Amino acid sequence: MRLFIAITLPPEIKRQLAEYTRAVAALARRACPTREDNFHLTLTFLGDALTEAEASAALYDVTGAPFKLYSDKPGRFTRGSSEIHWLGLKSSAELTELHANLNAALKEAGFLPENRPFTPHITLAREIRGMNTVQLPPPPRFIVPVEGLTLMESTRVNNELTYIPLYEKKFVY
Ligand code: 2AM
Repeated sequence: MRLFIAITLPPEIKRQLAEYTRAVAALARRACPTREDNFHLTLTFLGDALTEAEASAALYDVTGAPFKLYSDKPGRFTRGSSEIHWLGLKSSAELTELHANLNAALKEAGFLPENRPFTPHITLAREIRGMNTVQLPPPPRFIVPVEGLTLMESTRVNNELTYIPLYEKKFVY
């Protein structure tokens, strides 16, 4: 199973992201936009390194209190001859601490998180080619209420990339 741990987003924020993504993709010769249902913020990608039971047990051990995240500027990663476009989240002490706590729990479960610096982002579109970045519209501004972490499975349903929530660790106030 291809697993990852994410912060999920409310429907209204997904709607804003979909609208912005349509405007971004329209500026490219080619783009593969994220489906509205699929917008999320990945904290740690596990792949098939842990089972669903191991990952859920590790997530159960992560404690935290709810907090808020603020949207930031768009950015991109270059992947060979194409690009990935994303919207960043403002750096936050709470998010940094949560990411560290999560990775400590995953390490206890036998997973070795990668050492790369964490760039919190929501992927808007992949496989972007021929993009006119000069005309990029202003990005949406929103606040994400973070009330927990979700173990997600990445799979294909009817040949469509689909993210299925498997277990949610809710934070207590
Ligand atoms: P991305 O959005 O930046 O592509 C499900 O695939 C989630 O896990 C996506 O958010 C994706 O990040 C992330 N992901 C997929 N493969 C990954 C990998 N090899 N390393 C890190 N993150 C990955």
